[in-house]
Amino acid sequence: MKQDMIVILDLGSTENTVIARQIRDMGVYSEIHPHDITVEQLRALDNVKGIILNGGENRVVDGVAVDVADELYSCGLPMISIDHPTSKCDKKFDAMPTEADIKAFVFDECKAEANWNMKNFIEDQVELVRRQVGDKKVLLALSGGVDSSVVAALLLKAIGQQLVCVHVNHGLMRKNESENVVEVFQNQLNANLIYVDATDRFLGKLENVADPEQKRKIIGGEFIRVFEEEARKLEGIDFLGQGTIYPDIIESGTKTAKCVKSHHNVGGLPEDLQFELVEPLAQLFKDEVRACGVELGLPAEMVYRQPFPGPGLGVRCLGAITRERLEALRESDAILRDEFAKAGLDKTVWQYFTVVPDFKAVGVRDNARSMGYMCVIRAVNTIDAMTATIERIDYDLLEKIADRITAEVTSINRVVYEITKKPVATIEFE
Ligand code: XMP
Repeated sequence: MKQDMIVILDLGSTENTVIARQIRDMGVYSEIHPHDITVEQLRALDNVKGIILNGGENRVVDGVAVDVADELYSCGLPMISIDHPTSKCDKKFDAMPTEADIKAFVFDECKAEANWNMKNFIEDQVELVRRQVGDKKVLLALSGGVDSSVVAALLLKAIGQQLVCVHVNHGLMRKNESENVVEVFQNQLNANLIYVDATDRFLGKLENVADPEQKRKIIGGEFIRVFEEEARKLEGIDFLGQGTIYPDIIESGTKTAKCVKSHHNVGGLPEDLQFELVEPLAQLFKDEVRACGVELGLPAEMVYRQPFPGPGLGVRCLGAITRERLEALRESDAILRDEFAKAGLDKTVWQYFTVVPDFKAVGVRDNARSMGYMCVIRAVNTIDAMTATIERIDYDLLEKIADRITAEVTSINRVVYEITKKPVATIEFE
């Protein structure tokens, strides 16, 4: 490994990721591990330069304060302890140390080198993946989302044609999205990509299904079945690549003993399809994943893509999905995205999309009364998607978007702007 590492041992703090981020921002790699790590496991991490024991409000489990193993205190590595006056560690902080304190620990005591950068990270991961995979093949579900795209690019660099990507187009992708996945990965990067157009299959299963939960179940379940069918057609695959990232793994603010939660994989693959996982992004925060994608040469629109739900447009074509309404949704969404990009809002607004409800309203088109769909525009800002506020869009821009949508998507005759925060609304409508 090329990078020096500071290990944070979780003794029940909710601030583990804050400290890890702070240290990474200083250019030094940092990882969070559970408090019950053994000295052997710690040594196996390679290049550990120091340890931070990070205690906090969840330290006491069932009336007993958890602690690291005694042998860890004498392992010889520089160590500080936070929020634990009774710690056996010599250097204690009663509360969160200042940035200067952490800096002094990392550089003066641990003598860590600031060598954490994406170039080194990629080199390390390429080597680790090659070591793990050998001459075997890796299967990857490539949705076109940020995480799976970056994993694909990284694995491609590491093992080239030993990577087999499967892109399932469920017919609920945004305009040109599946085409872009094929263009970038198959045509430009020369990846081994299996493209499955399962539009008819998904829309067939979804016909007349109006219940949101039912729709989600059908889309998720069908996705697994299509992926499984493709996996069974392939031979000699031992590994499954996954875009698991750090926030998927860390469970902050819970009992220290449960610091690392089991994370879900592509989910629900049958028991007899057993793969070993390859997860090269498992230590990255979201913005680091994007930086990794940029370093690997992926196009900006792929790397800075806004969040998009797994069930795709399926949860925005409200009620029972029809092809006509789905197309109206896809086209209106494309217009919204185009106008947001022209106005520079694509770089500042967290998530924006259109929704088409399953009823018609009266309108007048070509001097005649007509019935058309309504298009709802939603644009929100958030940090963690748990709460969200509304983007205050300029009225001229809103009017321009409404004019374009009603002119170019003739089945839509009304456009409204959604102004409800989360809570009480959620970001999506279903
Ligand atoms: P809500 O609607 O719960 O959405 O406020 C919060 C964030 O999660 C996204 N979302 C999903 N993402 N599968 C996903 O992968 C889903 O089923 C799903 N539902 C909502 C939503 O787009 C928003 O960013």
